[in-house]
Amino acid sequence: MKLLLLGFGNIGRRLAEILADRASYPGLDGLGVSVVGITTGSRGAAVDPAGLDLGRVLAELGARGRFGEGYPAAATLTSEEALRDLDYDVAVEMTPLDIAGRGAAAIGHVRTALERGRHVVTCNKGPLAWAWRPLRDLAREKGVAFLYETTVMDGAPVFNLAQRCLRGNTLLRIEGILNSTTNFVLCEMERGLSLAAAVAGAQRLGVAEADPATDLDGWDAAVKVSALANVLLDAELPPEAVERESLSAVTPQRIEDALTREHRLKVVCEAFRTASQGGTQVIGRVRVREVPVSDPFALVEGTGSILRLTMDILGSIVLTEEDPDLSTTAYGVVSDLFRLQEELDSPGQ
Ligand SMILES: NC(=O)c1ccc[n+]([C@@H]2O[C@H](COP(=O)([O-])OP(=O)(O)OC[C@H]3O[C@@H](n4cnc5c(N)ncnc54)[C@H](OP(=O)(O)O)[C@@H]3O)[C@@H](O)[C@H]2O)c1
Repeated sequence: MKLLLLGFGNIGRRLAEILADRASYPGLDGLGVSVVGITTGSRGAAVDPAGLDLGRVLAELGARGRFGEGYPAAATLTSEEALRDLDYDVAVEMTPLDIAGRGAAAIGHVRTALERGRHVVTCNKGPLAWAWRPLRDLAREKGVAFLYETTVMDGAPVFNLAQRCLRGNTLLRIEGILNSTTNFVLCEMERGLSLAAAVAGAQRLGVAEADPATDLDGWDAAVKVSALANVLLDAELPPEAVERESLSAVTPQRIEDALTREHRLKVVCEAFRTASQGGTQVIGRVRVREVPVSDPFALVEGTGSILRLTMDILGSIVLTEEDPDLSTTAYGVVSDLFRLQEELDSPGQ
């Protein structure tokens, strides 16, 4: 499979490092991929129809901070041009989440690839949060795959689990701690740090966004709630319709009071279907909740995350992710590529 990578930041580079160092990962033996194009926002592009030498790509970017002399033919190539003109099988969307623009650029990338009959893997949550149904329908119409495992809980198998291992159940409720910055900040505040100091610590570690309001005001979490609700509960729930509670209003006193009652404060995401005016509707929420210390949610430390799925037959299961790093995230793309390869090898399985 020939890959076109859109965006070459944290995830793109880690994915390239893993693919360039395949010998260290025996599990990748069966994965037949080459990268034929890479585009960025401001660092130029690299193209080689025969497959880019990823070691060389990483070295060039490391040395110069941008693609240049090594790839002159691609110097001014934009993502839209690459999507329209290059010969590739899979577009991997790894550009930044754009909340103000309601994901428009990434949605455009995904649509262009699908319209050309190319498969898409997205790490960007925007297309699921704001355009899930039209993109899913377009992929079906074109007979191509549209995969997105990385969008929630990095590489942990959230969508694969729900779609492939839980057949026969109706999913009733989704709950999770899905934003690492707010969980990290709450854990630091429990240790006595102020909100401002805890946020500064998260930024120093590279956990928080440059503008921490995206995390603190619940926007990142709301986009994840939308993605999960739209895909797994067949909702049409944009992030603007998800109720949000900001962490900014949480005082050290509230955290201390909760601890005295043997509870921990956690930012909990929820989505569930409920009866409404003769039909049903999906409600999405991001709330600061007190969780009993005996609940698995209370065990999530630092940048970890957790998801509880409640179903009509199986009941509840819980998936946790501990100490994620960039490999955890890049693995989400690897897992989608394996799924795609399997589907191409055995259609309809
Ligand atoms: N990091 C994580 O742990 C994580 C986990 C799950 C999901 N995600 C999602 O995955 C995506 C990528 O995350 P990241 O951490 O790798 O982001 P990042 O480090 O900010 O990198 C984003 C990359 O996209 C490029 N870019 C911007 N506009 C572009 C365009 N129009 N066409 C092509 N490239 C463009 C940027 O180029 P410049 O370098 O020139 O600006 C940069 O190379 C985001 O949507 C994020 O929400 C991230």
